[in-house]
Amino acid sequence: MDRSNRVSAFLMLWLLICVGASPLTMVVHTSSKVGLPAVLPCTVAYQLETAHTPHIQWQTIRDSVFERMGEELFQGEAYIDRADVPEEMLMRGNCSLFLRDVRFSDAGTYESYLVVGESSIKKRVFIQSVQLAVIDHKTIKSMKPGEELILDLYTHQAEQVIFQNNDDDTSWSVLWERGAGISKKDYPKERDDKLIFRSVTASSAGTYKVLDSQGLALSTMKVAVTEPVLVKETNTLQRHSALGKATMSMPPLSLITLFLSFHVMFFK
Ligand SMILES: *[C@@H]1O[C@H](CO)[C@@H](O)[C@H](O)[C@H]1NC(C)=O
Repeated sequence: MDRSNRVSAFLMLWLLICVGASPLTMVVHTSSKVGLPAVLPCTVAYQLETAHTPHIQWQTIRDSVFERMGEELFQGEAYIDRADVPEEMLMRGNCSLFLRDVRFSDAGTYESYLVVGESSIKKRVFIQSVQLAVIDHKTIKSMKPGEELILDLYTHQAEQVIFQNNDDDTSWSVLWERGAGISKKDYPKERDDKLIFRSVTASSAGTYKVLDSQGLALSTMKVAVTEPVLVKETNTLQRHSALGKATMSMPPLSLITLFLSFHVMFFK
């Protein structure tokens, strides 16, 4: 055993002790909204006197996710172009995994490992376990007639937008489909992963859902379309409120929506 071998053996031992003694051996829980980036935290005590960056692996129970060994990197099949541990961060001992455009199928437990040793005697040292939850988007919007409604698709995973009117609790209509290329007057315009609906009316009030290819809801947006109402009129309307199912969750808005639907019914 020459001197340099002894030094590297010592370094390896030191690494094992450092990593083994790391306080981060518990599971960390993190959550991300679907379509957005996620950072899965990880730190590794790594002595940077050596010239090369640590060799890091991230995996789930089923798949390899990401591996970086110096400039070489590997991305698992489901993570192509979406996973990274930036090298300059890794140099500073930050082995956090960056995931882009998070999918529902990314939810689960991830583990990071440090690979140490020379080719023949490689050893994997467990660093960190991270539980990732992926959640959908939920928004409530209150608008005035004539305004432009912007619906965020968030991600290229969005395949379809469906809509249900407030007065109707059974049927959903399809408002948009990816690549359908329809240019009807009331078909929404698509711009930067957003849909733009021109000039909302009372009948635009309801629930909008953005679905992925599996039919799972990436986002749900509830839209109320309200007109400025005089206080007196609100009082008279209160008597009708028993008719409105949605009254419980959003009293002032649903009253106004109710007013608008009456308005539409009587003046159509
Ligand atoms: C590692 O980098 C990520 C992303 O920049 C950051 O959020 C995190 O706080 C860093 N961790 C440490 C321990 O510095």
